[in-house]
Amino acid sequence: MIVCHCQKISDHDIHAAVDWMRAADPETIITPGKVYRALGKRAKCGGCMPLFLSTMRRNANMEVPADLRTPVFGKAKEIGHEGR
Ligand code: FES
Repeated sequence: MIVCHCQKISDHDIHAAVDWMRAADPETIITPGKVYRALGKRAKCGGCMPLFLSTMRRNANMEVPADLRTPVFGKAKEIGHEGR
């Protein structure tokens, strides 16, 4: 199924890009922009974004890495920032 008509991107293209990015870097945060770049394209009108995002979310590899899910409140002092 075509998801992005401007760039002719299908749901299979999106799933392949997400799978490839997760395999290349298990800790990466996958965004629509990264998917477009992985496919060598860029968004034009943005009208596909709701369907594009829901297609991405259906992919099992879209999970945010566990260590990035926990808020890091208080970590600023541990790593030396003043918290400003
Ligand atoms: S339909 Fe995807 S950018 Fe226009």
